[in-house]
Amino acid sequence: MDVSSLVAQMTLEEKASLCSGLDFWHTKPVERLNIPNVMVSDGPHGLRKQEMVVDHLGISESIKAVCFPAGCAMAASFDRDLIRTVGEALGDECQAENISVILGPAANIKRSPLCGRNFEYFSEDPYLATEMATNHIKGVQSKNVGTSLKHYLANNQEHRRMTSSSEIDERTLREIYLAAFEGAVMNVKPWTVMCSYNRINGVFASENHRFLTEVLRDEWGFDGVVVSDWGAVNDRVLGLAAGLDLEMPSSGGMNDAKIVQAVKDGRLAEAVLDKAVTRVLNLVKRYLENKKEGVIFEKDKHHELARMVSEECAVLLKNDNILPLNREDKIAFIGKFAETPRYQGGGSSHINSYKVVGALEAAKNLTNITYAKGYDTETDVIDEALIAEACKVAREASVAVIFAGLPDSFESEGFDRSHMGMPDCQNRLIEEVCAVQPNTVVVLHNGSPVEMPWINKVKGLLEVYLGGQAVGEASVNLLFGNANPSGKLAETFPIKLEDNPSYLYYLGEKDTVEYREGVFVGYRYYDKKKAEVLFPFGYGLSYTTFAYSDLKLDKDSMPDTDTLTVTVNVKNTGAIAGKDIVQLYVAPETSGVIRPVKELKGFTKVHLEPGETKTVTFTLSKRAFAYYNTEINDWYVQTGAYDIMIGKSSRDIVCSASLQVQSSIATPMKYTLNTTFGDILADPKAKAAAEPLIAAYTQLNSSLQEGSDALGDATPDMMEAMFSGMPLRAILLFAHDRIKEEDITQLLNHLNNLE
Ligand code: BGC
Repeated sequence: MDVSSLVAQMTLEEKASLCSGLDFWHTKPVERLNIPNVMVSDGPHGLRKQEMVVDHLGISESIKAVCFPAGCAMAASFDRDLIRTVGEALGDECQAENISVILGPAANIKRSPLCGRNFEYFSEDPYLATEMATNHIKGVQSKNVGTSLKHYLANNQEHRRMTSSSEIDERTLREIYLAAFEGAVMNVKPWTVMCSYNRINGVFASENHRFLTEVLRDEWGFDGVVVSDWGAVNDRVLGLAAGLDLEMPSSGGMNDAKIVQAVKDGRLAEAVLDKAVTRVLNLVKRYLENKKEGVIFEKDKHHELARMVSEECAVLLKNDNILPLNREDKIAFIGKFAETPRYQGGGSSHINSYKVVGALEAAKNLTNITYAKGYDTETDVIDEALIAEACKVAREASVAVIFAGLPDSFESEGFDRSHMGMPDCQNRLIEEVCAVQPNTVVVLHNGSPVEMPWINKVKGLLEVYLGGQAVGEASVNLLFGNANPSGKLAETFPIKLEDNPSYLYYLGEKDTVEYREGVFVGYRYYDKKKAEVLFPFGYGLSYTTFAYSDLKLDKDSMPDTDTLTVTVNVKNTGAIAGKDIVQLYVAPETSGVIRPVKELKGFTKVHLEPGETKTVTFTLSKRAFAYYNTEINDWYVQTGAYDIMIGKSSRDIVCSASLQVQSSIATPMKYTLNTTFGDILADPKAKAAAEPLIAAYTQLNSSLQEGSDALGDATPDMMEAMFSGMPLRAILLFAHDRIKEEDITQLLNHLNNLE
């Protein structure tokens, strides 16, 4: 397929036609030129190929496929290889089903626990989200199937998602909301990026030239197709000019005609249209020319993979010597989710799973299991009879395991949660069962954090998230110790919703949503506030224990253009094999800017046999120390000391070492009459230049004060602080004509021309 010659042969109408879908899932063909079309499908954690009836809400049936753990769970694995393997499996399923692009991964940041789509998203932390998205893309695309990194940008709530404007300052955009998209695009180019429904600072994502072209393409080098989220186009012509290549789904010809008209009227350069058409055709070519024929995917093998992955994603949040369970004991499984687990979220990512195994079925060969339903999921009504039955079963067993969590009606694409609670009927069930059975364990199925009023009453808590179609088997393996939990939280669990930094402004007013908490999202906020949380970011237990030692930095000082190598030893100090996630955080020791206390800049998951030690290595470069400086519109490392912290979670730092980093860029400083002496003293060159003036002033000051009581109660510290905050212009007033305006003007000229 010779794309440029095809574009040259196409009529204006044919070109415009390629800028929107044929129907819900296909690009358009151009039969006259033998240009075929290709099909795309949702994602992200399974294939939702719809053959007959179509929709973007997950209502109509799609083909049978394998549902892997959702993004919320995958991120908790902190395992790059694992998500790449899932990506490869998805790529094979797409090849087998003739799908050119699978719509995902979804890399939006979890601003609030309430976002209805948090289950699809990875984390509150952009570095972790970057690593997950990157490896998902690598896996899928290694099979010559494209991905669609979505939803670009700042789509952090479902409420009014098609009209709301996310109002975000530049530094917060760069450090938090753009970062995961930037990282994934720079690390591994996705074939497509999907622009979101919402506006950013007033401009629709689908017609945002700054983010679709200047940032995405010019800065990050993206060379694929920008596709609209389904129905995200507001003004098609503006969108095309801004860099939106493909509108999905079909607009029934309406928007194609508008493109044609705009070119004819001279409102849109045909060259802009040609670029978009070229990109769409490159995508078609890329898929078709490398299509692998005869790929079959073995559903059972992928189911096994889904089980293994689910085991790696589960997070053991509490274990008062209760887990793993003893097979000899009589165990009561309680809760409807033991029978029919909640294992995926609602909406466009909803997979028609070819098989689902609940924990009850998975444990059927274990003889000592009894069961009571405990609650219903259709309505949140406390059913005393179900609770009484559950208590009876719990009392008669040695341990009660309650399978609980959020039902579909509590969280889904399309709406946000209105609170962080679990259904009342489940909270009551847990309380009542704990009252009769002290050995109670809860297994949680949810896409986002929940409040746990009963946390002090249960002995064990296993968070399995929305763990995919094999979550029941994974849960049983973990509960009975066939698998050792190794996940860590990719998000903070606050004690209550009101503790969350976005609480005051979440959902906004009408269509204005101000992100006033700025960069203080998730642990960046809780750490800064030294606030108590239920479970911190990065937290998770294991059935074994790990110890860290010998933290080493390969240097103790470096310019920010250099890289730092960090090594640390991890030892499995327990009796069984297990995996640990070693986390590296960077903390500026002091900073003139308002920054989080520390930020995650590295992690590695290691498998260790009992007694085994491994050395983990991290490499850090400039970005690990930088913040986004809006004066220079670039990443900037402030000269100073930084702590390199190794932790088991964001709240359990085990060892740290300090490093001096020197900035390679001088921040531009414009000296004016209102520049303070403090600012001048902070810059050695400026300080030297201003020395004569400062000396003159100091001498003058002391001679004026000699013999008088002018200082009164003032302490030297206070005098120093006053001097430091004094602008240059004020010296004229206090110098009583002994320092002249020309002296200051001369100094300013000099300072502003310093090399
Ligand atoms: C969702 C996308 C999805 C698309 C197609 C939209 O409603 O936001 O994530 O890929 O529908 O189903």
